[in-house]
Amino acid sequence: MTKKIAVIVGSLRKESLNRKMAKVLMSLAPASLTCEIIEIGNLPLYNQDLDDQGNPAPAWLDFRAKVNACDGVLFVTPEYNRSVPGVLKNAIDVGSRPYGKSVWSGLPGAVISVSPGAIGGFGANHHLRQSLVFLNVPALQQPEAYIGFAGDMFDANGAITKEETRKFLQKFMESFAEWVEINTHSHA
Ligand SMILES: Cc1cc2nc3c(=O)[nH]c(=O)nc-3n(C[C@H](O)[C@H](O)[C@H](O)COP(=O)(O)O)c2cc1C
Repeated sequence: MTKKIAVIVGSLRKESLNRKMAKVLMSLAPASLTCEIIEIGNLPLYNQDLDDQGNPAPAWLDFRAKVNACDGVLFVTPEYNRSVPGVLKNAIDVGSRPYGKSVWSGLPGAVISVSPGAIGGFGANHHLRQSLVFLNVPALQQPEAYIGFAGDMFDANGAITKEETRKFLQKFMESFAEWVEINTHSHA
């Protein structure tokens, strides 16, 4: 049985480098993984009142159901002001509630950050990891993936231009597939 992976992209931009990266990663994933981008741009800002009143936003319910149907989660995120973009944090918060019904708990995960800058989104990557500890998402440790200078990384068709980078990304996805395999038992 293949494992279903939710791919969450932390940018809503049409020409997003992170979305390009997500597509490359999906194309490089081993056959044991089936990856699907789950969109987050339509999620209303989280407001606990709606859950408490039994009136959650339909888009929240749809998002929670989609993640619940997955066996793993791959976050592909830009860095905004040395943290994750608000849209991504909102999606994480939406998935984490109602209390006790988080869709994230026990789901094996991985984080890759992508930036045109030199630091490769290190700050965002580790801020996200801080949330993942609390959310009980076992996150792949190695290889770490802080992808810098991403502005020049893709050709006009969205393919990776450097073979060395492509190989690294393939290795990353292979490691993630193994990680999902060995952590599957803990998915609550
Ligand atoms: C509000 C905002 C804050 C940003 N802060 C950072 C930052 O802290 N570090 C960084 O490397 N790039 C930062 N950037 C630049 C982004 O890395 C760049 O816009 C990148 O292309 C966003 O990812 P995307 O192409 O997937 O949309 C910021 C961009 C915006 C719009």
